[in-house]
Amino acid sequence: MDWDELIKIISNCTKCPLAQGRTNVVVGRGNRNAPVLFVGEGPGANEDAQGLPFVGQAGRLLDLALQSTGFTKEDYYIANVVKCRPPENRNPLPEECAACLPYLRAQFKLIKPKIIVCLGSVASTNMIDKEAKITAIRGKWIERGGVLFTATYHPAALLRDPSKKIVMWRDLKSVWDKLKTIR
Ligand code: URA
Repeated sequence: MDWDELIKIISNCTKCPLAQGRTNVVVGRGNRNAPVLFVGEGPGANEDAQGLPFVGQAGRLLDLALQSTGFTKEDYYIANVVKCRPPENRNPLPEECAACLPYLRAQFKLIKPKIIVCLGSVASTNMIDKEAKITAIRGKWIERGGVLFTATYHPAALLRDPSKKIVMWRDLKSVWDKLKTIR
């Protein structure tokens, strides 16, 4: 499957009820050949309106944090576990995640990243360990099939609790340092 096919399939998807509430599907943004794949939870209102992930307040914070750690736009691609906005920005339900995950897997196969960074607990429980607690798993590295997985806080959590900013910055710096060693 290539990107055009994948985007067409996602755009026409009605596998779960989230499809009914969407304005746009949100597939991803960034370099499609990037070494690092960031995975969020699901689109919010701004993302639904623009069809792009992390373009609201949390996204601006993420972009700033990435820039200040040394990342350039070429280094990463950002996608979400679910491609349609959950109502009232609630967490996506397990069955919504399960319906949508094959699309993230297809993106993974096309991008072939060396590092996957889960942003927050929805991404971490779906990608790393279904029992994962973000406070326990963040900053750790897990290797699977030649791909390195790690997790950090979701940028929206930083808006609620700014004391987490420094922790996320350190986590992202460690991703940047890891990337330099495997490039
Ligand atoms: N939060 C997410 O998890 N993803 C987005 O795209 C925006 C906010």
